[in-house]
Amino acid sequence: MALVTSTEMFKKAYSGGYAIGAFNVNNMEIVQGITEACREEKAPVILQVSKGARAYANHTYLVKLVEAAVIECPEIPIVLHLDHGDSFETCKSCIDGGFTSVMIDASSKPFAENIEITKKVVEYAHDHGVVVEAELGALAGVEDEVNVSAENSHYTRPEEVEEFVSKTGCDSLAIAIGTSHGAYKFKPGTKPQLRFDILEEVSKKLPNFPIVLHGSSSVPQNYVDMVNAHGGKMPGAIGVPEDQLRHAAELSVCKINIDSDLRLAMTGTIREFFDAHPDKFDPREYLKPARANIKELVRHKLVDVLGCAGKA
Ligand code: G3H
Ligand code: 13P
Ligand code: ZN
Repeated sequence: MALVTSTEMFKKAYSGGYAIGAFNVNNMEIVQGITEACREEKAPVILQVSKGARAYANHTYLVKLVEAAVIECPEIPIVLHLDHGDSFETCKSCIDGGFTSVMIDASSKPFAENIEITKKVVEYAHDHGVVVEAELGALAGVEDEVNVSAENSHYTRPEEVEEFVSKTGCDSLAIAIGTSHGAYKFKPGTKPQLRFDILEEVSKKLPNFPIVLHGSSSVPQNYVDMVNAHGGKMPGAIGVPEDQLRHAAELSVCKINIDSDLRLAMTGTIREFFDAHPDKFDPREYLKPARANIKELVRHKLVDVLGCAGKA
């Protein structure tokens, strides 16, 4: 199967009450860990590339790695998506360069400007058979060099979503309901709680329309502990409870973004490896268990959180 857009995936996910996992990819081991789990669990998947990933690994290397996964996993549909495109130019470069989906994230701009830039990206993308995710509302946390403080973050306003979607023609919409990027999503001692009331209001205004959740890592405690037990310092790292993600997937959320959990699995595993084997220096020896743990983490997400196992 060649790379696909997310159109059919989202239709089935919406009616089936599950969500597609959108995992950030930065190198070969991450691509392999994710797609091996998806192949074995027969799950459709979105592999997403941030501006930072393109700067780190280079556009062509990432596209070719994803194309290799398509060849190795012919049974499952795979989308290649630009995560947090920051301008028309970045989106155009990915549309021209083989991506099947792009996000234009103009959520930090005023409403009218967000509409204007999103509409421009949608027109170009649709002319080239590519779909577009847009965003309304501002998540706290760090994405590339943009750091949104908790005070500057704000929830999506349900009263804006209809106008935004009808004027831009976007294919899916990322909303802010209390998730945030990175490994420190909630204050220690507070009860993590997503705003399902906002999600429900948005869904009422946009029936059958796919909603996206960013910042949806659950920050597994076993990997935080592994990092901290082997020389790391990540006190108070807290993610989104997985039962709340599962609930969101049963509602209108069709795409759930996960990056920090992959980073934690990889870093924890490598730290543990070096503690146990201070004499080893072959990258294959420490990347192999890191890739294996990413695979098991992704399998758990597909089966227990997203509900998309067996849906390919
Ligand atoms: O939303 C941000 C993703 O976790 C990507 O992070 O910009 O550091 O590649 P990055
Ligand atoms: P996390 O930091 O929660 O993994 O979020 C990733 C994300 O939203 C990528 O766009
Ligand atoms: Zn994001």
